[in-house]
Amino acid sequence: MIPSKGVFSLLIKELELVNYTNYHHQQVAFHPKLNILLGANAQGKSNLIDSIHFLGLARSHRQHQDLHLVRWGENYFRLKGIVENRQGTITLEHAVKKGRKIAKINGTSLRKLSSLIGQFTTVIFTPDDLTLIKGGPESRRRFLNRKLVQLTPLYYDYSAQYQRTLIQRNNLLKRGNVTSEEIAVWDQQLSYYGSQIIDYRNKVLLRLAPIVLEVHYQLSGNKEKLSILYQPDIPVKAESSALEIQELLLSRLSNALQTDLRKGFTSVGPHRDDFTCLINGIDARHYGSQGQQRTTVLTLKLAMLKLMAEMTGEYPVLLLDDVFSELDQNRKEYLLSLVSESIQTVITATELDLLDKPGIPEGSIFRVHQGKIY
Ligand SMILES: Nc1ncnc2c1ncn2[C@@H]1O[C@H](COP(=O)(O)OP(=O)(O)OP(=O)(O)O)[C@@H](O)[C@H]1O
Ligand SMILES: [Mg+2]
Repeated sequence: MIPSKGVFSLLIKELELVNYTNYHHQQVAFHPKLNILLGANAQGKSNLIDSIHFLGLARSHRQHQDLHLVRWGENYFRLKGIVENRQGTITLEHAVKKGRKIAKINGTSLRKLSSLIGQFTTVIFTPDDLTLIKGGPESRRRFLNRKLVQLTPLYYDYSAQYQRTLIQRNNLLKRGNVTSEEIAVWDQQLSYYGSQIIDYRNKVLLRLAPIVLEVHYQLSGNKEKLSILYQPDIPVKAESSALEIQELLLSRLSNALQTDLRKGFTSVGPHRDDFTCLINGIDARHYGSQGQQRTTVLTLKLAMLKLMAEMTGEYPVLLLDDVFSELDQNRKEYLLSLVSESIQTVITATELDLLDKPGIPEGSIFRVHQGKIY
């Protein structure tokens, strides 16, 4: 995976953590390419990776509640990062205190956290992400949604409008005794926003597919062909236009009305979409080995990173938590060669054996011990 010409690599230069998980007060200056966080279990490697993710999105990848990120016995945490994107060097700050969340860009507080989108993007891999293959469709939709929001800000608006409309339609269905005129208004809106979502997903998965194939082929030592297939809830074709999708969704919604009234919720639409990963034609979810499933998740993340670079002109920062322990030597080397090209990467490891490899840049090894970095 050679980086495309003219693509800018996002950088995290410095990070300051105050009362963030097991960190009391820590400053880190990152290497522009490879950063290896080395340490025994339970020292703070994953927490540090997660704080970098938080910096870009005001959201942890591992904790649902910000409260759990506040160091025990304290009542607030702060993060301050200096990052570089196409626009130049910017400062991102976050504070969480007594349930209140404040984010700042260059010292100015943000009214909406969505203003952070596109400033500092990361792609994170953690062992928990295995749910992307093993879990239910909602984890795959979440993955797609989060990435699509980063790729096109409009997707954020369409999703929000779709969710809002869906809730209103469902409330109406639960209320019962609905006239067809009443429901038609909501169906019109739902099919419009829904068709935009389906259209974006359809297009992005079509662009992702060849990248997935290429990355996985290399990662698996030229053994496996991974294909990714969109499984929309309504039978959309790869070449369907947004308008055709809208017409189809509208007719499906109207056909489902009696069922929906009985059930009290909307039974068709993109909130039920999914995608499948096939390894050499076989469903990875049901038949993949543990190692194949992990490699598939890694492929999806790396391929998404590449697609994001193609579409936005910027390589996100790559965060790899506990990835080495799952990979054989060939796969480790492929990964290292990939990241040493130009993508800034932060990677955790517990083993020293990695360090024997030639080509690891100076200054890229950070020892993590009891919430401190040496
Ligand atoms: N809010 C918090 N306050 C204080 N400590 C916390 C908080 N949240 C988590 N910790 C502690 O931080 C420690 C380090 O966790 P982390 O997941 O970063 O370890 P790690 O270095 O990634 O270990 P492993 O190699 O096992 O994955 C854990 O012992 C955990 O209990
Ligand atoms: Mg960890």
